Amino acid sequence: MSKTSSPSGSITIRNLESAFAGESMAHIKYRYFAKLARKAGDEATAAIFEATAEQEVQHAFGHLDLLYPAASLTPSRALEIAIEGETHEYTEMYPSFRHLAVEEGNNQAVAEFDDQIAESREHAQAFRSVLQTAAKRFAALARVEERHADHYRQALASANSKKESA
Ligand SMILES: [Fe+2]
Ligand SMILES: [Fe+2]
Repeated sequence: MSKTSSPSGSITIRNLESAFAGESMAHIKYRYFAKLARKAGDEATAAIFEATAEQEVQHAFGHLDLLYPAASLTPSRALEIAIEGETHEYTEMYPSFRHLAVEEGNNQAVAEFDDQIAESREHAQAFRSVLQTAAKRFAALARVEERHADHYRQALASANSKKESA
């Protein structure tokens, strides 16, 4: 993922990225722990894990505000970033993990990685189709704007020619 607004190789940007990863993982892990605690009948433990998980989301959002400043992130750019991430998952990351899991004979992990390859491909395709629809919409709007501009140019030309003949 490229950070357009930040100097490349910035240690603080890298730290924000790893802090973002840590907070995000804490969020999911606490939700998972809450699920297990509730299953075990321990509602108090489930409740504190859920409440803390909610705060970790806010911490992660705070880091994202700095990593992807709202002013520089259009919906199209967000879709491009997401497509890049999902494509990396199904073309590189999971295939290489799968290969190593086969070598280790971990069949459960092989099946899990196969599922994730399929899911990431679907996610990338869904994002791509929304991005293409948005691009068509923008192109249609641009044509409308162009027609309006033509009308104004014609009106201006005819006003100018009337002025000249007056
Ligand atoms: Fe936190
Ligand atoms: Fe995904």
